[in-house]
Amino acid sequence: MKLLDDIRAKARQIGGTVVLPEGDDPRMILAAEILLKEKISKVIIVGNQDNIMNLAKQERVDISSAEITDPEIDPRKDDFAMNFWELRKHKGLTLYQAKEAMKNPLYWGAMLVRAGFANCAVAGAKNTTGNVLRSAIHCLGTATGVSVVSSCFLMVLPEFIHQKEKVFVFADCAVIPQPDPQQLASIAIASAKTAKQILNIEPKIAMLSFSTKGSANHQDVDKVRKAVDIIREQAPDLSVDGELQVDAAIIPSVATKKAPDSSVAGEANILIFPDLDAGNIGYKLVQRMAGAEAIGPIIQGLAKPFNDLSRGCSVEDIVNVSAISLLKSID
Ligand SMILES: CC(C)(COP(=O)(O)OP(=O)(O)OC[C@H]1O[C@@H](n2cnc3c(N)ncnc32)[C@H](O)[C@@H]1OP(=O)(O)O)[C@@H](O)C(=O)NCCC(=O)NCCS
Repeated sequence: MKLLDDIRAKARQIGGTVVLPEGDDPRMILAAEILLKEKISKVIIVGNQDNIMNLAKQERVDISSAEITDPEIDPRKDDFAMNFWELRKHKGLTLYQAKEAMKNPLYWGAMLVRAGFANCAVAGAKNTTGNVLRSAIHCLGTATGVSVVSSCFLMVLPEFIHQKEKVFVFADCAVIPQPDPQQLASIAIASAKTAKQILNIEPKIAMLSFSTKGSANHQDVDKVRKAVDIIREQAPDLSVDGELQVDAAIIPSVATKKAPDSSVAGEANILIFPDLDAGNIGYKLVQRMAGAEAIGPIIQGLAKPFNDLSRGCSVEDIVNVSAISLLKSID
């Protein structure tokens, strides 16, 4: 797909470093070789040196230029444990628990990113989304101006109103079940940043609802309107409108009728769903019924990128998510 080729090419220009915490998974070793061979990034693999080199031998891959770090013996382990304890001691974490946490490759990978040894981390081939997100949230925290970590999908439609490979950003489709207005605003602001970083487009954000500009009244509609107000206050430069039904958001002829004064309606490229039910069902409908390619979930709102994979991921998925994460590491 052209979009993914472009993303890999842009990632290559960054000259960054990706941490792969799940070094005991053969797919990670194979992905590391591609990242290195195609000069997309440098690679840090987390795990036991002998095990990783044996795996590389078994898979017949050359990862000789990768850095391997074993949290059990790495000389940075005490510093990282101390830093992590400082971050979490107000929650009752002891220094002993901080040292134990650093033995977890996910936490170790996140601390490498936090400390600036790498631009981003990618995991989830063996770990659940919850475990990946928890280590990222605990070690990296949220980005400035964003209250929650959320996710988005890049939905690539083969054709949309005479445009080939049209891309929309859908959010949140994977993390926050029932966002309140502030969280919904954060999801929108983070999605706009993702769109700029990865797609280099000018965001036009539609805050979706079953109502367009007062056509219905309900507390769920109020929630979306409040989120729009918060976004306008917190990010006045963003082009946002709502509440909008999805047809008014993306179809110019409907927008003319339902929201004629809107600068976003009919032209939205970022669709923010009011809750996770709508977002998750929405992206799967477009994927399954309209034949769109769904790229994601891309984790957003973290201070530095740590992306999640599906446990059924392929080697190519790991390479693509690594490239996306590299783009997300640049402001
Ligand atoms: C994010 C997630 C891991 C948090 O789960 P949890 O650990 O049970 O949540 P808790 O409420 O105990 O929160 C743990 C910490 O993370 C913080 N947190 C939880 N969700 C957060 C979010 N979305 N953004 C920022 N911080 C968040 C909490 O504030 C809390 O912080 P604290 O320990 O400093 O007080 C959980 O919501 C999750 O698993 N989400 C993914 C859902 C999923 O699997 N989706 C399908 C994938 S396709």
